[in-house]
Amino acid sequence: MDDVPMGSVIVLLGPPGSGKGTQAERLGGEAFSSGALLREAIADGTELGRRASEYMQRGELVPDEVVVGLIRDALGKMGDRGVVLDGFPRNVAQAEALEDVLAEQGRGLGAAVLIDIPDDEVVDRISRRGRDDDDPSTVRNRLRVYHRETEPLIDFYEDRGALRRVDGTGTPDDVAERVRASVA
Ligand code: AP5
Repeated sequence: MDDVPMGSVIVLLGPPGSGKGTQAERLGGEAFSSGALLREAIADGTELGRRASEYMQRGELVPDEVVVGLIRDALGKMGDRGVVLDGFPRNVAQAEALEDVLAEQGRGLGAAVLIDIPDDEVVDRISRRGRDDDDPSTVRNRLRVYHRETEPLIDFYEDRGALRRVDGTGTPDDVAERVRASVA
């Protein structure tokens, strides 16, 4: 059963490797990963993919207008089913753009769930995976970018009364229980 109410959007926040993708799948609802959409564009050889690839290889954020456009299109094709956003928004400008998109589409933000894990565990988990952008220097940069660009969203969503903090350590099942409880 979906844990995301119809018409509602849950945002998953957290550092690289915190388990956003893993938990998005478990929550039910329609999951959109901005990273996965960008990797699809790269695999399809599109112009957008070529542009995104340079940034992703360095562990930098892809320009806002590219990612906001992808998410707006993805949400626009959705029916009323609840949606989980994994990896978007990633900075305050994207979070503000998301508010506009949700207002345009008549959707509401259900919650922003922060999956919290220490940086050491990020490095440990990601080093065992082997994606193109998982080499140690790129991961270190992804973490720096997270602390600099994405962490301010914790206050952004706290100010809106939407933030839920979840301990992201333990097994994926342990974390899923906490995430579910936080959005219930
Ligand atoms: P993206 O694909 O979003 O990567 P990320 O945020 O760095 O996150 P990851 O996919 O590495 O981790 P995750 O938190 O989803 O964890 P996962 O479940 O996979 O972004 C990649 C790049 O795209 C960015 O660097 C940027 O360039 C660009 N980009 C994406 N979105 C953007 C945006 N909005 N704006 C601009 N640029 C953007 O788990 C990780 C690993 O840990 C897996 O192997 C998993 O099996 C394992 N694992 C999960 N949970 C647990 C657990 N509880 N215990 C042990 N292992 C676990």
